[in-house]
Amino acid sequence: MLELNFNPFPVIETDRLLLRRVTNDDANAVFELRSNPESMKFIPRPLLKNTEEALELIAEIDSKIETNIGINWAITLKDNPKLLGIIGYYRTQPENYRSEIGYILLPEFHGKGIVSEALNRLIKYGFEDLKLHSIEAIIDPENFASEKVLQKCGFIKEAHFKESDYYGGRFRDKVIYSLLEK
Ligand SMILES: CC(C)(COP(=O)(O)OP(=O)(O)OC[C@H]1O[C@@H](n2cnc3c(N)ncnc32)[C@H](O)[C@@H]1OP(=O)(O)O)[C@@H](O)C(=O)NCCC(=O)NCCS
Repeated sequence: MLELNFNPFPVIETDRLLLRRVTNDDANAVFELRSNPESMKFIPRPLLKNTEEALELIAEIDSKIETNIGINWAITLKDNPKLLGIIGYYRTQPENYRSEIGYILLPEFHGKGIVSEALNRLIKYGFEDLKLHSIEAIIDPENFASEKVLQKCGFIKEAHFKESDYYGGRFRDKVIYSLLEK
């Protein structure tokens, strides 16, 4: 069975980005990110109402890291500590050596390849460091930007479930993409 270990926290660099731990200092940025109807359009979670709720979310992220259940990184540019997005392995199936990756980025930073750059690096981390066998991403079929990111990073579409999820008063489709260890 796969055993995860996020201690010490893995700070990761790419060409342009620094992926670091989310801290309480990020509360305002996390609130900005998770209260924005545009960036939350395809994420079936309630919009945050205030920075208190952002702090609760940060505490949740932290406790998953502490208990080695899951990991999220703050996406930042190397020359600026401001959190621009969050990316991480949200849900892991240790018995299957499989984990689900998810991400969100502030709208003003969309279309610059930021999430693709972070995801490409975290795929390597997932297979080489976490020892995953497969990575999964679950998207709304209308989330074309997210689909493009997954395709650019080599993910393959495996399933489209019709009206499988009930959220916000309606039934929603979901599409599963996955990537296998080479
Ligand atoms: C999905 C998301 C993470 C993409 O991040 P990003 O850093 O902008 O992604 P990239 O710049 O690496 O790539 C986006 C690609 O999608 C394309 N794209 C953007 N909007 C698009 C649209 N409406 N239709 C088709 N393609 C689109 C871009 O042109 C780009 O492709 P290219 O590299 O060939 O030019 C970002 O849009 C986001 O945070 N959305 C809100 C949260 C969300 O939906 N998260 C995913 C939940 S599964």
